[in-house]
Amino acid sequence: YGTANINEIGHLEIGGVDTVTLAKKYGTPLYVYDVALIRKRARAFKKTFESMGVKAQVAYASKAFSTIAMIQLVEEEGLSLDVVSGGELFTAIKAEFPSERIHFHGNNKSESELLMALDYHVGCIVVDNFHELYLLAQLCEQRKQEVKVLLRVTPGIEAHTHDYILTGQEDSKFGFDLQNGQAEDALTYAIQNQYLDVLGLHCHIGSQIFETTGFKLAAKKLLEKLAEWNESLLFEASVLNLGGGFGIRYTDEDAPLSPESYVVEMIDEVRIETERLGLALPEIWIEPGRSMVGDAGTTLYSVGSQKDVPNIRKYLAVDGGMTDNLRPALYDAKYEAILANRANEKTTETVAIAGKCCESGDMLIWDLPLPEAAPNDILAVFCTGAYGYSMSNNYNRIPRPPVVFVENGTSQLVVKRESYEDLLRLDLSYVEKSQV
Ligand code: LLP
Repeated sequence: YGTANINEIGHLEIGGVDTVTLAKKYGTPLYVYDVALIRKRARAFKKTFESMGVKAQVAYASKAFSTIAMIQLVEEEGLSLDVVSGGELFTAIKAEFPSERIHFHGNNKSESELLMALDYHVGCIVVDNFHELYLLAQLCEQRKQEVKVLLRVTPGIEAHTHDYILTGQEDSKFGFDLQNGQAEDALTYAIQNQYLDVLGLHCHIGSQIFETTGFKLAAKKLLEKLAEWNESLLFEASVLNLGGGFGIRYTDEDAPLSPESYVVEMIDEVRIETERLGLALPEIWIEPGRSMVGDAGTTLYSVGSQKDVPNIRKYLAVDGGMTDNLRPALYDAKYEAILANRANEKTTETVAIAGKCCESGDMLIWDLPLPEAAPNDILAVFCTGAYGYSMSNNYNRIPRPPVVFVENGTSQLVVKRESYEDLLRLDLSYVEKSQV
């Protein structure tokens, strides 16, 4: 993965830094990000659009991993940013991300979140539903403020590619239905409103998708509708946002394309369809999250207790688990790992990696080949960069691990380890009613 390799003393090294040294310096569990790999992904997406001569915005979906340092990196690489909540927007603003390149998503944005987006003059609000559409129109009218919007639509795809293409199907909580007239009603309303500047349509068909069929089908469906509305409503879309969802390789079972290949096939399809339908080529926007940061993240744990269940399995417990990586418990997600301090040693047994939470479901990996591990060995779990830190939690009052960026032989702490005091920062003492 990226700059990861094994150094001369048999330790896993990332970004030119020995991970065993990192574990000693910052403690475990620890999230380590390979900055060079994030930059490489960002550049590959941008370059692909450039080389195909297509106007584009690559908006990093910050839900995958949002911290001030990460947003600064995204800004340095010149990408746009997708935020889905007041909290993600606040992080972007604090990181001084240019607000005109922020796209605001969400299926239930509150009035205060919309006001925040208008206050900061975000580049675009992706309107999801009628409640939001009317509320936003009302707020803009009150403030005499114009805003650029995209309408999020559900293309109604039942693609037979991969199970995770489920958010694009008709029965979804997101977006205006493209097939039954909802999207057309929304567009008709929006284009008549003097404060809403409708740039075009958005769809996101799902996540961790390996095939391009779904993306192409979605693009085709949206463009066909746009051609219809071009005639009936005289509406011309300048933007087509095809969302994120490009799959990555967690284990050998996964066979993704390169991030660039998804984009190339998407662009080809949009070109073919716009020509066929007699439409102008719109700007193409995408929103990669996982494929930007997933394999750039590695989590380091210390090995602790073991339990042997004779003839069944051996449990090896680490000092983190579902609090720093919810994905195995939530999605049955699979990961690969090695002992970072003994990276060259032959694997001699298959073990189950358990977390430290009071839950039987708190298992990180069920079948992991490893050399025989001892307490204080460092376990490195790969591909934890997306939806790891961002879905971390304090179950069992376990503090969140810190985040370290590594690049060119140096490491930098970008999120501090949570302390026990941090866990209590919002707690107030109970005061008996008679004394209040
Ligand atoms: N755009 C929209 C509108 C989305 O809803 C999402 C993800 C993305 C972009 C980015 O998708 P990506 O490129 O990361 O696949 N927590 C789950 C993933 C949930 C994805 C939600 N939406 C996981 O850990 O697998």
